[in-house]
Amino acid sequence: MRLDGKVVLVTGASSGIGEAVADRLAGQGARVLVHGRDPVRVRRVADRLSATALTVDLREQGAVAELADQALAAHGSVDAIIHSAGVGWSGRLDQMPPDTLRTLLRVDLEAPVELTRLLLPEMLRRGTGHLCFVSSIAARTGVAGEAVYAAAKAGLDGFAESLRYEVSRAGVEVSVVVPGAVDTPFFERRGRAYGRRRPRQQPADVVAAAVVRCLEEGRPEAFVPTWLRVAGVVRVVSPAGFRRLSDRFGEQVPPRPGGGSGDSRDPG
Ligand SMILES: NC(=O)c1ccc[n+]([C@@H]2O[C@H](COP(=O)([O-])OP(=O)(O)OC[C@H]3O[C@@H](n4cnc5c(N)ncnc54)[C@H](OP(=O)(O)O)[C@@H]3O)[C@@H](O)[C@H]2O)c1
Repeated sequence: MRLDGKVVLVTGASSGIGEAVADRLAGQGARVLVHGRDPVRVRRVADRLSATALTVDLREQGAVAELADQALAAHGSVDAIIHSAGVGWSGRLDQMPPDTLRTLLRVDLEAPVELTRLLLPEMLRRGTGHLCFVSSIAARTGVAGEAVYAAAKAGLDGFAESLRYEVSRAGVEVSVVVPGAVDTPFFERRGRAYGRRRPRQQPADVVAAAVVRCLEEGRPEAFVPTWLRVAGVVRVVSPAGFRRLSDRFGEQVPPRPGGGSGDSRDPG
């Protein structure tokens, strides 16, 4: 897809990966719809890029329909969606507050599925479109302390893979971008800093470059960094060996004092 003049909705564009994607798209002449939850952060990015600001909290009842309506109203159609809005939570499942569990499933899985369902018919009618889902390596390998997050992202992966079979012949492309650790406020917001020296965190702009390549070249999948693909392959080829390595070298998750959502920037 050529990006010049295209209308691209980027969810979670008020921070991190989504913001970097919005930057790159605007730089290539796309008309970007900057979505986020915090009105100040959304406005700051939208103003900087001369883009449209859409502030919607995806946890709320009717929020996704409202976002779809606002997106269509901005320019009459949406050529592509980058689903980047997401939240994490780190800790043992037995300490996870029920509200946090619901928020993760809602924001990381249900909202992107519902938003896609609402905007897809118009893409199918026009015979063109691109749906890009920002997943996570957690979905492909499993990660201690992130069971619900990994499940939500794995659900998104399965959704994207299945949807591609439904829509590709009708001209709508589907891509999945699978990052490892990325240097954004994500970790601070999930309640536990990224504590490993390796693999090193990637800059958000490197993920953004992979997203833009998927759009421009119609690529179905991208890993960031690219060598991360090996982790998924090893897990499939040698599941027992992979589990042994994960047990030995993976992070152990200390109990959280008092649990908690860990979203220190949560405006809601
Ligand atoms: N950082 C990593 O290491 C990493 C690795 C793999 C995958 N990912 C995925 O990459 C995506 C982007 O994460 P990031 O690293 O860029 O994190 P981030 O900097 O924390 O950005 C998250 C974005 O999601 C938005 N968001 C969160 N909750 C929302 C809600 N209830 N309603 C509407 N918007 C909401 C935030 O909006 P506000 O800022 O306005 O609150 C923000 O724009 C996520 O899907 C994440 O799971 C991240």
